Amino acid sequence: MNKQQIEKRIKELTAEIERHNQLYYAEANPQISDFEYDMLVRELQDLQKMLPASPAPEFLEKVGNDLKQSAKTIAHKVRMVSLDNAYSLEELLAWWDKLSLDLNSRIELCLEPKIDGFGINLFFKEGKLQYATTRGDSIVGEDVTTNFLTLPDIPRRIPYLGEIEIRGEIYLPIPEFLAMNEARRERNEKPFANPRNAAAGSIKLKDVEQVKQRPLRAFFYTIGYYSIPLPFTHQDELLKWLAACGFPVSDQYATCKEHKCLIDFCNQMEQARNDLAYDIDGVVVKVNELALHKKLGFTAKSPKWAIAYKFKPEEKETRLKQVEFQVGRTGAITPVAIMEPVYISGTTVSRSTLHNFDEIKRLDLHEFDTIRLIKSGEIIPKILSVNLEKRLPEAKPIALPQNCPVCNSPLSREEEAAIEYCTAADCPAQLARSIEHFCSREALDIMGLGSSIVSRFLDAGIITSIADIYRIDFTQVAAMDRMGEKSAQKLKESIEASKAKNFDRVLFALGIRFVGSVTARNLAQHFQTMDRLQKASLEELSEVPEVGTKIAESIIKYFANPKNQDLIRDLKNLGLNMSYRTEQESDALAGMTFLITGSLENFNRKELESMIMEHGGKILSGVSKSLDYLIVGEKPGSKLAKAEKLGSVKIISEADLLAMLEQNQ
Ligand code: IVH
Repeated sequence: MNKQQIEKRIKELTAEIERHNQLYYAEANPQISDFEYDMLVRELQDLQKMLPASPAPEFLEKVGNDLKQSAKTIAHKVRMVSLDNAYSLEELLAWWDKLSLDLNSRIELCLEPKIDGFGINLFFKEGKLQYATTRGDSIVGEDVTTNFLTLPDIPRRIPYLGEIEIRGEIYLPIPEFLAMNEARRERNEKPFANPRNAAAGSIKLKDVEQVKQRPLRAFFYTIGYYSIPLPFTHQDELLKWLAACGFPVSDQYATCKEHKCLIDFCNQMEQARNDLAYDIDGVVVKVNELALHKKLGFTAKSPKWAIAYKFKPEEKETRLKQVEFQVGRTGAITPVAIMEPVYISGTTVSRSTLHNFDEIKRLDLHEFDTIRLIKSGEIIPKILSVNLEKRLPEAKPIALPQNCPVCNSPLSREEEAAIEYCTAADCPAQLARSIEHFCSREALDIMGLGSSIVSRFLDAGIITSIADIYRIDFTQVAAMDRMGEKSAQKLKESIEASKAKNFDRVLFALGIRFVGSVTARNLAQHFQTMDRLQKASLEELSEVPEVGTKIAESIIKYFANPKNQDLIRDLKNLGLNMSYRTEQESDALAGMTFLITGSLENFNRKELESMIMEHGGKILSGVSKSLDYLIVGEKPGSKLAKAEKLGSVKIISEADLLAMLEQNQ
């Protein structure tokens, strides 16, 4: 790589890492695993070393930040730093050997499981618990005392009469976490990605009554500040003392003086990981003698007397039950592996997408194969490979269908995306998915027409097309099993209300390939009416922001189909909105394009977007050369870096936007 390429990559990595910091710390909604995150940071550190003259991004020196703007904060008396990581046993042993060499003797270590939870700091004064804080930005933490006191078995008094910070990790036990997610699913709430996110989200809840419903637990393992001498000299004694004071302490710790002992402990913990009732993501290795901690000290980010040995992303084996071939709205066939349920990186998994037929060939998947599963990004399950030793002798390869599994029409393959499509125009599965999409929240938001009701209605002949939604015979619906008058009435109201939705929603609901909700809005705003949109040429369509040839061609193809023309005519006659209600207040922002990043102070994002549109502005879906203004709120994402890189985008605040509007009033 030359200097320019390195600089480019550093910029990309910086933006990417900042985006993940935001997702992890502020939104408790990570999208990649810690391992993948650490690899990005490592790559950045390595590149940074190649260009020592350029300043390192701040976060390389600092630990992350979980602080919310409005939270009450308290300064830690000693910084709450994080640990350096070792990703292999070799790296870990090398770290230990170097320490021993520097200190001229074989250093004894204390080994503990690395609890995958959320750091917590307790402050005691004259033996009494004063407050509990999160790690925050490592210097100040968020005061979560009230919520923390809902945890059972936490001593409020300890036999130490000075001031002391006692630190540990809050976590959710796996069985309780699974039950909690189950209950959330039943209530139609979004389940948490893993126990750590659930713990982080729970301790920061505003309502303590809600926190009481979350079975949080904690383990304690270290001390920050202390004002008078401590009654122990080693880390293992510290753990025993904490336990004697009444703190929950993991019993999985050991001390060691030889390589073999360290290797064995790490391997055992990696095995035990599957049987523990809490998630661990590594082993924390600490110098056992506390006096040496003082001597060794800290780097900018972490202590020199401890290191975290990180496990590889969790991998589990399970048995394939069958492969389902699902037909999507566009006719795309997606194979899905149905497996024996298995707990992995935070949730129980029983389905995993295989994406396309080529993936089945790559895996050479056979019936009832034992498969190795990981969660990529700790979120989406992925089948890595097949354990051939466990393949049943009589097992046949998974057969790839030649025809649509629902309507039996021949399949055709789209080479570019390596996807097979059902070629039938009247495939019932495509129809069912199209109706589900039409009713979805972002489209016409018809409540009560989810996938199971849609399939019942199709089976019973209550509907046979999208337009039939508006011709439903509700007496027939009310008479159906598990339906009744009340649900029928609610459904009727919801369908009626959908007629008032704006034209851009109708357009999105049609499910034209490549036309997402943002494009639909831009099209509706630009052409104003369905008539004009239907007549638009490729060139005219390409004038709309973010509509390229691929999208324009897809739109033309959609409107050229007589069946779609009939559907649109029907929907129009049934009373749906076919022209855009601008509710335009002014054209102060006419011809200008906008995008929002970060959280806003006075509006939610949708409100501000509507306001921009009401004044003639357009909203784009990403940073590009056609973007005029990026509105930056609190904790912006990677869009800001991208816009800065482009140089042509004007970066403004919410207040700047309001000022632009006022000037034009
Ligand atoms: S000791 C000065 N021990 O891992 C460092 N940390 O990446 C003191 N963690 O911030 C930390 N289990 O939140 C320590 N047995 C353990 C731990 C542990 C989990 C967390 C902790 C820390 C992070 C470091």
